[in-house]
Amino acid sequence: MAGSILLADDEEKILKTLGRALRDEGYEVTTAANASQAARCLNERAFDLLVIDFLMPDRTGLDVLRELAAATPEAERPAIVMMTAHGSVDSAVEAMKLGARDYLQKPFEVDELLALVRHALDDQRARTGLRYLLSERDAEFDHYGIIGRSRPIRDVITRAERVAESKSTVLLTGETGTGKELVARAIHARSSQRQMPMIKVNCAAIPEALLESELFGHVRGAFTGASFTKKGRFALADGGTIFLDEIGTLAVSVQAKLLRVLQDREFEPLGAERTQRVDVRVIAATNRDLRQLVAEDKFLEDLFYRLNVIPIEMPPLRERPEDIPLLVDHFVRRFAERTGRKIEGVDDKAMADLTAYGWPGNVRELENTIERAVVLSTGTRLTSQSVWLIGATAAPAAAAVPSLKLHPNLEWAERETMRRALAQARGVKKDAAELMGISQRALSHYLAKYRIDD
Ligand SMILES: Nc1ncnc2c1ncn2[C@@H]1O[C@H](COP(=O)(O)OP(=O)(O)OP(=O)(O)O)[C@@H](O)[C@H]1O
Ligand SMILES: [Mg+2]
Repeated sequence: MAGSILLADDEEKILKTLGRALRDEGYEVTTAANASQAARCLNERAFDLLVIDFLMPDRTGLDVLRELAAATPEAERPAIVMMTAHGSVDSAVEAMKLGARDYLQKPFEVDELLALVRHALDDQRARTGLRYLLSERDAEFDHYGIIGRSRPIRDVITRAERVAESKSTVLLTGETGTGKELVARAIHARSSQRQMPMIKVNCAAIPEALLESELFGHVRGAFTGASFTKKGRFALADGGTIFLDEIGTLAVSVQAKLLRVLQDREFEPLGAERTQRVDVRVIAATNRDLRQLVAEDKFLEDLFYRLNVIPIEMPPLRERPEDIPLLVDHFVRRFAERTGRKIEGVDDKAMADLTAYGWPGNVRELENTIERAVVLSTGTRLTSQSVWLIGATAAPAAAAVPSLKLHPNLEWAERETMRRALAQARGVKKDAAELMGISQRALSHYLAKYRIDD
């Protein structure tokens, strides 16, 4: 696929030579002999690339770029290369601001232009591909759900895209709540092993003594209490993906065994005579600094390098505040739908407060805050008061209860207690139930009631 180019210059000779050279390369070329003609062509159809002269008799190339910028959203504009015989820094700067990616000083060699055109079109295609993927995700966010347009999150998405097809090991790092698990799921969902399961192991939630058998399985009689043969998670993930969450908490003894699977793709279930082979894609995640743990002898250096094949670092939310409004709208819509409330959005003050806040708990904290605000709000727009950022973190008790309506407050207290107990129990339901002094059956009831999954 070559690409469509609009070539605008008032010199007929240039249109001819450059036009021929570009066509010879397989591009589809339209020519315009002045600025108005160029503007007309741009109105009539979309081009992948615009190569335009700065000085033309009727208007300047900059005028055309200005009009284009005003009339067409950035994502829909062609890539732009500006040509000029009258190079001035000012016009170059303005052309760049208006989206020109390159500036060619006349006279130039045809090859110079061809190289620029190739690069510009490659870039343009990468941008279009990304835009397509982003909008596809908007539509089916249940599959991927990575919301965000900021540079850092786009970089994450591009990288995730690129590694999805390969079977390379991925190491996701970043603060709590930044979306590591979400990205792990997105990678699996786009991989060639997506028909196979992705098996998650929360390394922090499983007691050290049980972890080995959880990962690798055991045969009957392998240890006291092993009354039946059990498949490990690696075996379950065979052909698919294994997601090793909170890998930084892994005991060194288990790390050594894991290293072997990563190196040789084989392991022995506890008590088994035979070695088992697996074909799995490994994705690991941690909010700890693994290099630091290596330096402290708490993490095997070899294992670190085996995991760190494709590192993806999740940016904290405070470093991409431009994503906050998108995330807020997304969560408002989601929770309004779930709770059946008619909430259209948040008011300006609330949005400003939400954007200014530092979000130490990142997207998860934002998500919880919006959920709570949606549940507790009475109007059709969330106000700063109903969002009560302070209440979301270390709140003075009074600020945490924005209304005096008893039922929403009771629900909130229940939900919050569930969350905290689960967090403290690191997701182990039995322990969480014990912490709250309720049965596991009661816990299941609440989890279903409040749709708390993990
Ligand atoms: N870019 C995003 N768009 C939409 N939702 C997001 C995004 N990032 C995170 N979330 C949501 O925020 C919540 C936390 O994300 P996730 O569980 O992936 O974080 P994490 O990095 O694994 O956190 P932890 O280290 O605490 O396990 C999830 O509900 C997830 O769906
Ligand atoms: Mg996680």
